[in-house]
This record gives sequence, structure tokens and C-alpha cells, in this order.
Amino acid sequence: MPTKAKNPHLPFGDQQTAPWYGKDILSVKQFSRADLEYIFAVAHEMRIMVERIGTFDLLKGKILANLFFEPSTRTSSSFMAAMKRLGGAVIPISEVKYSSVAKGESLPDTVRTLGCYADVIVIRHPEVGSAALAAKHARKPVINAGDGVGEHPTQALLDTFTIREELGQLDELTVTMLGDLKYGRTVHSLARLLTQFKNIKLNYISPDILRMPKDVMDEVAAKGIPQAEHPTLGKVLAKTDVLYVTRVQRERFEDPAVYEKAKSAYVIGPEVMKGAKEKMIVMHPLPRVTEISMDFDDDPRAAYFRQMEYGLYVRMALLAMVLGKA
Ligand code: NCD
Repeated sequence: MPTKAKNPHLPFGDQQTAPWYGKDILSVKQFSRADLEYIFAVAHEMRIMVERIGTFDLLKGKILANLFFEPSTRTSSSFMAAMKRLGGAVIPISEVKYSSVAKGESLPDTVRTLGCYADVIVIRHPEVGSAALAAKHARKPVINAGDGVGEHPTQALLDTFTIREELGQLDELTVTMLGDLKYGRTVHSLARLLTQFKNIKLNYISPDILRMPKDVMDEVAAKGIPQAEHPTLGKVLAKTDVLYVTRVQRERFEDPAVYEKAKSAYVIGPEVMKGAKEKMIVMHPLPRVTEISMDFDDDPRAAYFRQMEYGLYVRMALLAMVLGKA
């Protein structure tokens, strides 16, 4: 991945030799295991700093352009919070209907523009490959915050950081992904990223029409990771260390009747979870709709709200890294 150290007005103190300085973050395929350990170590430091002092000036004077063409609560606000907790500023563009996008401006021109004003660009867009296209035309590092049904690399990084902080390990785990595995970009990124760890077993549970895409399964298989598809949780729940639940992605269905049929295929609740280990976690990228019942929320294994908080620390780490401060 080429480095975009093209800003002629770099203020004194930017570590242009830092390994992630000026890099785009587009796909989990960019990360080696050593990279992951590094990101997790920085994220852990960020956690300690936030817990101790809340906000500090590591990115003082830097500006983030937060460009969201699709709805978002967590990803968008956690990137904003991450930048502000590091002392930087944010240009939030989530109402694209009020920007020149509504006048027909192309994505390359929009990011060219933002590159003139900001030091880093975060983008979420409904089309696969949009973040890579933005990166090609932006003078500043671009971070993919979800490109349609493609990837969501920062989510997979925060998901793996969550597993590490909660279970204390990332090797030797059985991870069961359940729900909409076809359109859920978070599971596409997470399955790929988990191939970096040792003795991982992956189980996929979904309605037949929402199975994990073949290209993702082929990539995972090429890394020697065992994967199995199951119609129900029955056989695998008792062996599962991480149950990763996803929402059925209504906005990606062409036919609402098909969505209606698929939407309530699985519901995780206290009764079902009696069959699971005591030391395991249930994760969800959120938002949830009906796939995890609210009466499970107080179970110590319900890690999905803690998972959101880990996202802040990981995004702080990533911003600091691409801006040459970590
Ligand atoms: C996910 C997404 O946008 O892909 N949400 C998120 O970023 N936390 C999952 C979803 O929308 O269901």
C-alpha cells in the first residue's frame, strides 16, 4: 500500500517514518499478525489514557473528514469521538443531500475536495470498492468505514480487539457467525481477519439464501482454517467461544417479501443460551433488531455493548497511526 506523504506543509513532529504513516486502511487483508498485535497494543494504551484523563492532545491541529453516504450511529460517532479525544477536529458530512454530492459531484471530486481541508478521510458508501476508489483520488489517507456488502475493516479490528480483551486470547477459538452472512460486511471482514490466528474454527449459521459468500469461504479455506455451515445452532453452541450475531440487512434486499421471511430466522435469548459455555461471549456489531432478545442483555456473556466501547479505542489507535503519531 503506497504511503501518501504528499502534504508539503507537514508540521514539525509528524513521524514520517512511522510504519502506518499516510497509509489507507481499506481491507483486513492489509494486516499481518504483527500489525494486529501492534494495533491492539496501541488501542490498549488508548483505553488506559481515556480511562485516566479522557481527552489528550496527540492529534491537536489535525482534521478528520467523516464522510457517510449510508446510515450510521456507532461507526460515525466513534470516529468523531476518537478524533476529539485525541484533541483533533472533525468535518462531519453525513447529510450528503446538503453537500455537492446532491448536485451530482463524483466521489473522486468529493474526496479531492476533502483532501484539501482535512488530514484524514473516513468514508462509508453503499458500493463495494468505493473506499478504494476514494483512496485512489485522495491526497490524504482514507479509512474504509464500510463499502456496501464488501468490507468493514475497522469493525473487524475492534471485534478482534474485543475478543482479546474479553477472553484474553485470539488463538484456539471456535467462532460461530449467525444471521445474515451474505450481506453482512462485518462477518466478511471478521472471517478473513481471523485467519491470522492459530487453531481457529469457524461455524456459519444462516438461512439458505443468506449464506457466507463463496469468495470469502475460499479465501478462508486457502489459509487452512476449518469452516462448517449449519442450519441451526444446535450442534455447535456448546463448543462456541464467540457467538457473533448479525442483523438481517433489510436495506440490501430487492424483494421485501424475502426479507420478511428471513428476518426472524434466529433469536438468541436466555433460554437458547443455557446450552452455551459459561466462559464465552456473544457479540453483535449492532444495531440489533430482533436477533438478540433484550432479556439477554444483563447476562455477563453479552459483550455487544462493551464491544462498542472497544471500537473507540481501536479507532483512536488507527487515526494516530495513519497520522504518524503512533
Ligand atoms: C454494521 C455495518 O454497518 O455494517 N454496523 C456497524 O458498523 N456497527 C452492521 C449492520 O449495520 O448491521
